[in-house]
Amino acid sequence: MGKFFITTPIYYVNDVPHIGHAYTTAAADVLARFHRQLGDDVFFLTGTDEHGNKVEQAAVERGVSPRQHADEMVVKFKEVARKVDATNDFFIRTTDPQHEAYVQAFLRKVYERGDIYENTYSGLYCSACEAYYAEENLVDGLCPDHGTAPVHMEEKNYFFRLSAYQDRLAEHYKAHPDFVRPRHRYNEALSFIEQGLEDISVSRATLKWGIPVPWDESQVVYVWVDALINYPSALSYAGAEDLTERFWPPTCHLMAQDILKFHGIIWPALLMSAGYELPEHLFIHGYLKLGGEKMSKTRGNVMDPFPLIEQYGADPFRFYCLREVNFGQDGVVGEESFKNRYNAELANELGNLLSRTASMIGKYRGGNVPAPPESAAHSPLVEEAAATVAAARDGLQDFNLSGGLEAIWGFVRRLNRYVEERAPWKQAKAGEDTELDATLWNLAEGLRLLAVLLHAYMPATSDEILRRLGIEPSAEAVAWSRAEWGLLEPKVTVETGAPLFPRIEE
Ligand code: MSP
Repeated sequence: MGKFFITTPIYYVNDVPHIGHAYTTAAADVLARFHRQLGDDVFFLTGTDEHGNKVEQAAVERGVSPRQHADEMVVKFKEVARKVDATNDFFIRTTDPQHEAYVQAFLRKVYERGDIYENTYSGLYCSACEAYYAEENLVDGLCPDHGTAPVHMEEKNYFFRLSAYQDRLAEHYKAHPDFVRPRHRYNEALSFIEQGLEDISVSRATLKWGIPVPWDESQVVYVWVDALINYPSALSYAGAEDLTERFWPPTCHLMAQDILKFHGIIWPALLMSAGYELPEHLFIHGYLKLGGEKMSKTRGNVMDPFPLIEQYGADPFRFYCLREVNFGQDGVVGEESFKNRYNAELANELGNLLSRTASMIGKYRGGNVPAPPESAAHSPLVEEAAATVAAARDGLQDFNLSGGLEAIWGFVRRLNRYVEERAPWKQAKAGEDTELDATLWNLAEGLRLLAVLLHAYMPATSDEILRRLGIEPSAEAVAWSRAEWGLLEPKVTVETGAPLFPRIEE
């Protein structure tokens, strides 16, 4: 038993959520659920980033106050978590008064350390990134990430001595080769550090929508500093008691590559300065792309996950994203490939496996799973099941969510081939009762095992498989210790129901 603290980025409330936000939250949920199956003490955090230029601008455009805007938008982001069936333990809003007080206390520690000084900033600012850009990093004068023109800003700011942390950051990276994963992201971050770090501005003089700098209330805290601090801040007030001791440092900050520099460079330096332990891992997944481009609200090419989820459920959505795109790489998504995969794999492979197994047990054994055959321990499936469990576990433990799912899917396919090989309808016809019992028991047990393995990915499907097998869904029924061949209780009564995944007809 261990501890597992996982976070998603806190999402900007300047606009409505899209499939990219749902993806990160769903992936984090898979990891959180898996670690609960292992019996770990889990804390899963998500939330919203509500201050800053970009949110203020969005509010101005709508003609409402930033607070009203945030209060309205947060509803949609909370809905994302609910709709993807996320089991987050808390939802932080950076406008929570407790968070605001925490940020001020945190920043004061950095200030008292002598790591903050006053200076004038002059440069180009992309408000979609909420970051300054050096001219040479622009593409045709535009932000490389958003394709929008940055604006010139000049003001007196407070600066954080990021440059002073360059060596300590590089040392930390070298001592922790899996601090950032996958490897190419680690290399990217480390080489950025080695190219030399400049101090960064951590306050804004002209912006009103933010947390006041504690020693100079004429300025507000830079939105990225405010946002990053959400991770420890949430622990301080999410529970009846302060959860910091129990969960800090985070096991994994999950995100896409757009915000790697903030999390891989600024964040650890701030933590060092304020005297906190650093997170164990940052895992950087790829972008879901629509028509070859990164989706972003600023670009206006976003895919809304809600209609798909509403129509087909959270499980097919979670399944699709993690099957279609290698976790850690970019990948293209779209409605057509969703439907194809749904029909091919969920309807035809998993759904069909369950319905044919249940109907054969119904037809040949009156709905009762036969007792485990003498040969259960020697079932041809025993070894393959053990290998599947090991591969699924390795994948899930190593943040390789698509690898884990791939291994599990191999077993779904194996069970379908097993049906063909054994041809239970022939065994029934020939009166080979012992053989038929063995076939049916193996199939039912294979499905029970799949329910355990699939729980983290497709929780509702896992529950439904158990229910159809006459097993009450519960945390115990899907504990990872149940991911072992041969644990199906004898004499369970199987229910044939409606198809798990009705085919999508065009
Ligand atoms: N508010 C900051 C994060 C602060 S965290 C201390 C922010 N917000 S965001 O709304 O822009 O969210 C960015 C994150 O959303 C990405 O890192 C990723 O997790 C997710 N995604 C946004 N678009 C995505 C895709 N197109 N594909 C995959 N993930 C995407 O940055």
